[in-house]
Amino acid sequence: MENSKYPIGLFDSGIGGTSIWKEIHSLLPNEDTIYLADSKNAPYGQRSKDEILDLSIKNVEFLLDKNCKIIVVACNTATTNAIKELRAKYSKIPFIGIEPAIKPAATSTKTQTIGILATKGTLNSDLFHSTVSNFKDIRVIEQVGHGLVRLIEDGHMDSRETESLLRSYLEPMVEAGIDYLVLGCSHYPYLVPQIKKILPNHINIIDSGEAVARQTKNILQSKNLLNMSGKEGEAVFYINNDPTVLTKILKAKHKVITADF
Ligand code: SIN
Repeated sequence: MENSKYPIGLFDSGIGGTSIWKEIHSLLPNEDTIYLADSKNAPYGQRSKDEILDLSIKNVEFLLDKNCKIIVVACNTATTNAIKELRAKYSKIPFIGIEPAIKPAATSTKTQTIGILATKGTLNSDLFHSTVSNFKDIRVIEQVGHGLVRLIEDGHMDSRETESLLRSYLEPMVEAGIDYLVLGCSHYPYLVPQIKKILPNHINIIDSGEAVARQTKNILQSKNLLNMSGKEGEAVFYINNDPTVLTKILKAKHKVITADF
């Protein structure tokens, strides 16, 4: 088979990276995709860098066994803690990472104050610190979204507990005068309806999904790896935990396989 016909592989600590998969599937509908949800090991955000790297390698090996032509690390925590090592270890495979959209927020803010909601693992990473240090004139209010990934993995996006946690994380940012909120975890786009109820209308919410999809297309194009078949791509989702929430957010339209990995 021609390399261009091979699938795009994506992995995340769980179901959150499907927010990235949706953008990729919508921009590149002819591509086959394989998504790995490592829900059994979520959340990654509280794990050490070594643990995150080991889990990422395990996920990459699984996707390479399925002949993926490119790998999208659809998890901010894995990107900020492991992508450099993954690129060095698997130098023949292109990797796309997902980093918090600090740059578009920092270059557009009128109040010179932006907020970022992300995991501890992302906010503590060197990659995140070096990104923020490029915008010395901007005040960046950092907040760890303790507990949110677990609530999303369990399908409690709409619960009182989720709302009350979000209020406690976001209200101080509103008081600090942010006009941009960066969602620095691929799980959080599933909370946008709840976040909008808390934030005043003038605060913009941004995530990295569209930019990651564009970047994936550009890299495939530059390497002559775009699938030009014209047929609708097949999407397969692997999960190593209860598939109920994943199946629900995919509206039962795609193949979900429970596997041990
Ligand atoms: C987590 O597993 O803690 C969240 C994943 C992410 O940062 O996108």
